[in-house]
Amino acid sequence: MPFLRSRTPFLPWNPTLAGLEFPFHSSAARKGKTMSENTLTIRDNRTGKEYVVPVENDTIKAMDLRKIKVNPEDFGLMTYDPAFLNTASCKSKITFIDGDKGILEYRGYPIEQLAEKSSFLEVAWLLWNGELPTKGELDEFTRHVTHHTYLHENIKKLMEGFRHDAHPMGMLQSTVGALSTFYPSAKQVNDPRQRAHHTIRLIAKMPTIAAFAYRHSIGFPYVYPDNELSYVGNFLSMLRKMSEPKYKVNPVLERALDVLFILHADHEQNCSTNAMRAISSAQTDPYSSLSGAISALYGPLHGGANEAVLTMLREIGTINNVPAFVKEVKEGQGEKKLMGFGHRVYKNYDPRAKVIKGLADQVFEVTGKNPLLTIAVELERIALQDDYFVKRKLYPNVDFYSGLIYEAMGFPPDYFTVLFAIGRTAGWLAQWHEMVNDPDQKIARPRQVFLGPARRDYVPVEKR
Ligand code: CMC
Repeated sequence: MPFLRSRTPFLPWNPTLAGLEFPFHSSAARKGKTMSENTLTIRDNRTGKEYVVPVENDTIKAMDLRKIKVNPEDFGLMTYDPAFLNTASCKSKITFIDGDKGILEYRGYPIEQLAEKSSFLEVAWLLWNGELPTKGELDEFTRHVTHHTYLHENIKKLMEGFRHDAHPMGMLQSTVGALSTFYPSAKQVNDPRQRAHHTIRLIAKMPTIAAFAYRHSIGFPYVYPDNELSYVGNFLSMLRKMSEPKYKVNPVLERALDVLFILHADHEQNCSTNAMRAISSAQTDPYSSLSGAISALYGPLHGGANEAVLTMLREIGTINNVPAFVKEVKEGQGEKKLMGFGHRVYKNYDPRAKVIKGLADQVFEVTGKNPLLTIAVELERIALQDDYFVKRKLYPNVDFYSGLIYEAMGFPPDYFTVLFAIGRTAGWLAQWHEMVNDPDQKIARPRQVFLGPARRDYVPVEKR
């Protein structure tokens, strides 16, 4: 088994640090309510019966509703919540979001501070382990990640088999899935040591797969990792290096990409993280689960939105066309959307978008200004004054400006979501560790409200 031969002697994940006892942002706890006051009385008007259910951390347990029945043989009451608009699927201590105030914190640290002072690998450790690493822990973690950047040669051959115009997200998703066949020990998901090994492997190999996908799309030879460079420096080298003996990394672009990875690293129970947790809940190996999470991220309503923003800005063409475009969105009754605007959780300016807007100026000093920026700024100005957007609390989200930076750095639009996926890998894995260690979790299996036909007998085709 290859990984047992690898020099990975440590077990970085700390179960005590990442345990589930933690102070929730719970209003009941803040108000100092007693246990008996923390209940909800439900009166069932169908029967006149009253039920008292406990309220904990501002939630009631859905299973407590099951005892509410009209007849003893009834199944019991359920909640109907398509798209999980008001359902907490887990207890988590990783990421806190206050969507109304525009707050995002990883393990309690504000995103603005992490973006200014931290590095992506430090944040990946923080998300996974619950605390910032000591210098020794960070050095050790960085060393291990650096030494797992290479891919098996057969993975390279597999990637060579894609068509020249294969979408890089499709390549990333299937290549990560294929990794599970190279590391069968990853199936041992209940072994913390195995989980640690494969977490490091995934964080290390994502940039290599992503870079190979890019080189494939432009028909250039793949560049092997340079382990003397930083995580992001090596990624840039694998993307850009040609015949020069060593790739010279631009420190401004290296830092900008590192910050973008930090901003995308986690975002609590979003669509792809929910996919990661749902797939892993069947004790699936992390490569297969992460491949599923990448598929969810691919969609234009999720990580694919940054690509859609650029398409939209190009379609608008000039700032003079902005008012007409906004009018079209408003009159489209939800048919046409202002991409990069709105969020399920943020009903205020997305704090990540603020950091990215600031970052854009630094990048544009190196790359030259992206001409689409003028249209984006005008679009934001007009939308933020417009009643339609104000009333619905639609503000720019993380994808509104990130695409402009990526494009200025020379990435093609269909590659933007790949960059998002590299950063989000840290969060997907941290959420997976938390789920595996959570005694409340079982295989994910929602209920349904069945509205189909009642039992009926099969009719032969000639009689229909
Ligand atoms: N442009 C125009 N109208 C919008 C937009 C938009 N971008 N977003 C929402 N609305 C309208 C929507 O039509 C609805 O109007 P009404 O009440 O008249 O029916 C109202 O606002 C509420 O929207 P919703 O669709 O119920 O909100 P949601 O929470 O289900 O959707 C969203 C959230 C992000 C999918 C949605 O805002 C959207 O499609 N935005 C554009 C795509 C985008 O930028 N996605 C990136 C999200 S951030 C990155 C990530 O987390 O992946």
